[in-house]
Amino acid sequence: MAEVGIDGIEIRTGKLKLDLPGTFAPAQGDDPEKFTKGLGLYTSSLPDVYEDIVTMAANASHRLLDRKDLSLSDIGRIDVATESAFDKSKPVSTYVAGCLEQVFEDDLHHANKGERKFACVAGTQALDDAYNWIRAGRNQGRKALVIATDTALYERDDPGESTQGAGAVAMLIDENPDLVAFSDAQGYGSADETDFLKPNQQFPSVDGKRSMQVYLARMREAMEDFERNGGDTHPDNFALIPFHTPFPGMVRRAAALGFRHCIRGTEVEEEVADEIGHQPRETEFDSHDAFLEAQKEYTETLTETNMYEEWYAETIEPTLAISRYVGNWYTGSVHIARAAGLQEALEDGRDLTGRQLLVGSYGSGAQAEIHAEAIQPGWEDEISQLNIDEQVENRRDITFDEYEQIHDVHNHDESIEMDPLTTPDGEFVFDGWGRMGERKYSYVE
Ligand code: HMG
Repeated sequence: MAEVGIDGIEIRTGKLKLDLPGTFAPAQGDDPEKFTKGLGLYTSSLPDVYEDIVTMAANASHRLLDRKDLSLSDIGRIDVATESAFDKSKPVSTYVAGCLEQVFEDDLHHANKGERKFACVAGTQALDDAYNWIRAGRNQGRKALVIATDTALYERDDPGESTQGAGAVAMLIDENPDLVAFSDAQGYGSADETDFLKPNQQFPSVDGKRSMQVYLARMREAMEDFERNGGDTHPDNFALIPFHTPFPGMVRRAAALGFRHCIRGTEVEEEVADEIGHQPRETEFDSHDAFLEAQKEYTETLTETNMYEEWYAETIEPTLAISRYVGNWYTGSVHIARAAGLQEALEDGRDLTGRQLLVGSYGSGAQAEIHAEAIQPGWEDEISQLNIDEQVENRRDITFDEYEQIHDVHNHDESIEMDPLTTPDGEFVFDGWGRMGERKYSYVE
């Protein structure tokens, strides 16, 4: 059976930039280093007045289809993963399809459209659905378009406000893909949690500190499940490990625990044991708490070794290169981590064809998913066509006053009027509300 995976990818950032240490920190009375050193963030992407989850999704998809020289009849399925939807019935994918039909000659009337929801892990779940649809042979030779799109905004003065972002990732799923092929083995860690939720509201209710613990616990469970299901997690197997990245500091923690887990009982643990000893085993301790304390100390020492620093610099750090400048994109976040890692690897001239990625997705509420991906021979061509660095560079830097207004605009409040801060150029734009409360879109040449 042919491999199935991601054939092409396009990324669209919101066109506004909030400078976190320079603009946000002083206005909030925060130390700028909390952002740069603590959270690992420099700027956030925010959407202009005429941008939203639909325009960002449609603009990314338009570029992807054009670049791959596809017509709409090549697409048999569109799934949008989002946690910023503005309608409980009509899926965002129908709006995106409506936009694409304005600029392509044919239509998407025979494509199955839907919306996937499970916080940030929904983008990965939509990839899974597309994979299963193609593997089942129900695609009739057509491809799936999976889009992860969000305006990840928090209530003003919520601690999460520091980690905001907005953007979309469009991915084309097909047989014999050019970028990565998905593994069959998967692992899940899932539990009913109330760490982050949006009960009929645009901005989330968040227990930030607890959400970090839940992320780590579910990720560990998913890793164990992946191993039970035949996945081999030896660190040497993976060229890059893209994690869901709400902010780079979260990945710094997850990576340390993940590395400790993966080297346990391997020759890597033996190699590093000369320097820092073996990992504590629970049977050696009188109490669980004493074991946890020893494990914490071991992990801290492990992260200071050259071996860990080299592994982190090569396998994790490159995946954070985009996230540091755009913030959390919720459903898109793990997919920009994959793209960032591959983009950095391309710049460094690494030969990754045939190597593996280990992808760690996570959604609050809560569920983690782990799977592997094999990097395909066409990856360099695919990645070299991304223009995300240019988009990030060209964003309009906003003042704190402008930030306060734009934040209000994106609460879907019809009464707020604000002039755009940028000029649309060859893109889909939001241009008002229809008679049934629908949002309307047009293409600006
Ligand atoms: P906070 O209270 O703003 O920040 O909350 P803090 O005081 O904890 O500081 C953050 C880090 O900066 C800490 O580092 C500080 O020490 C450091 P750590 O100890 O953790 O390594 N720091 C400094 N470093 C240097 N110089 C300084 C300085 N000051 C502080 N001067 C929090 C942070 C993440 C809780 C908050 O931003 C939040 O609530 N975020 C939203 C929730 C979130 O992102 N959770 C992550 C896991 S859940 C998830 O990923 C799912 C999600 O994407 C949603 C979904 O699935 O849909 C969110």
